[in-house]
Amino acid sequence: MQIDVVNGGKTVSKVIGGPVSGLPDLLLAYPEVFLIYDEAVSSAIPELPSLKGSVAVDVSEEAKSMDTVLLLCRSMMEAGLSREAIVLAVGGGITTDMAGFAASIFKRGIRYATVPTTLLAMVDAAIGGKTGVNFDSYKNMLGAIRQPEFTYISSEFLRTLPERDFRSGAAELLKTFLIDNTSSNYEKAVEVLTNPSPETLQDLVFAAAAVKASIVGRDPYEKGERVKLNLGHTFAHAIEHEARLRGDDITHGEAVAMGIILSARLSNPALASRLEEDFRRAGLRTDCPYPLDALRPAMFFDKKAEGGKVRFVLLRDIGDVVTEFLSPDEI
Ligand code: GLY
Repeated sequence: MQIDVVNGGKTVSKVIGGPVSGLPDLLLAYPEVFLIYDEAVSSAIPELPSLKGSVAVDVSEEAKSMDTVLLLCRSMMEAGLSREAIVLAVGGGITTDMAGFAASIFKRGIRYATVPTTLLAMVDAAIGGKTGVNFDSYKNMLGAIRQPEFTYISSEFLRTLPERDFRSGAAELLKTFLIDNTSSNYEKAVEVLTNPSPETLQDLVFAAAAVKASIVGRDPYEKGERVKLNLGHTFAHAIEHEARLRGDDITHGEAVAMGIILSARLSNPALASRLEEDFRRAGLRTDCPYPLDALRPAMFFDKKAEGGKVRFVLLRDIGDVVTEFLSPDEI
C-alpha cells in the first residue's frame, strides 16, 4: 500500500504500509542511516542497512525538549553523518517529532523518515512533517514543518502497544473521520474500537493516514485546510498545559477526546452528546476535569492565537467542519 503526498503536482512524501520486515529494503536507497528510536520497541526493529549510529530517546513530554534535540544532534555529529544521511525515527509521536526536528536543523537539514509504532503516530503525528519540541511547558512551541521522505506504517506494532496509548491514538483516528467521513469511516471506527485488533484496524488506520496525507498535500504549511486537523486541539493543548501545572497525568489523545467534545458543544450541542456516547463506547474518557476558566489563559496564548482571538475548528456535523475566530468571552 502506498499513498503519495502530492503538493503542486510534486510528490513531497510517501505513506507506505507493509510488514516491519519490509523496512530494510526501503533503506537500501540511502548511503547512511541514523536510527533514533523508542527503547520500548527496540526488539521489533530489524537489522538496518548502512547503519552509521543509533540513539534511544526518553519518550516523556518532559524530555521532549530542545536539550534532547541537541543531544540527538551531538550523537549525529559524533557518528560523522554527511548531508546524504537519512534519520530514521522509530517510535511514537514524541520520538518522530524530536527526530524530525533534529534532522531538520542538523547541517541545515538532512532527510528523515518515520516509522510510527503507536496508533496516534500512525494516523497523525508521523505524517505531514510537523516536527518540534515543548518549551516552557507549552506544547510544540518550537519546531519546523518539513516532510519526511516516507512514513512506513506497520500495524504489527499495535500488538504490543499498551492499552492506554492505544486509546489515545483512537481519539486521533476518530478525529480524522469526524473531519472527513468518506465511506462512513467514523461509524466503522466506533464499531471497530469497541473490540479492536491489529487486523480489523489495519484498513481504518490506512484510510485515516490517506485522509491526512491528502490534506497535507493540499496545504503542507497549514495556511488553510490543514487547520481542520486541529479539531479539539486548542482545548486539548490547554488541558495538557493545565495538567502539567497541576502534576496530573493526561495523555495527548485523552486531552484530544475531551477537546473534541468541548468544541462540539460550542457548535452543535446535540452532536456533542452523541459523540460523548460514541467516544465512551470506543473506550475514551470524555469529561474534562478542569473548568473553562482554567483553560482560557493557555488557549489564548496558543501559538495559533491572533489578535486576542483563537481559530477554533467547529463541527457542524460529522464530516462537516468549519473554522472560526473566537475571543475568550465567546467560549
Ligand atoms: N496534527 C495536526 C497536523 O499535523 O496538522
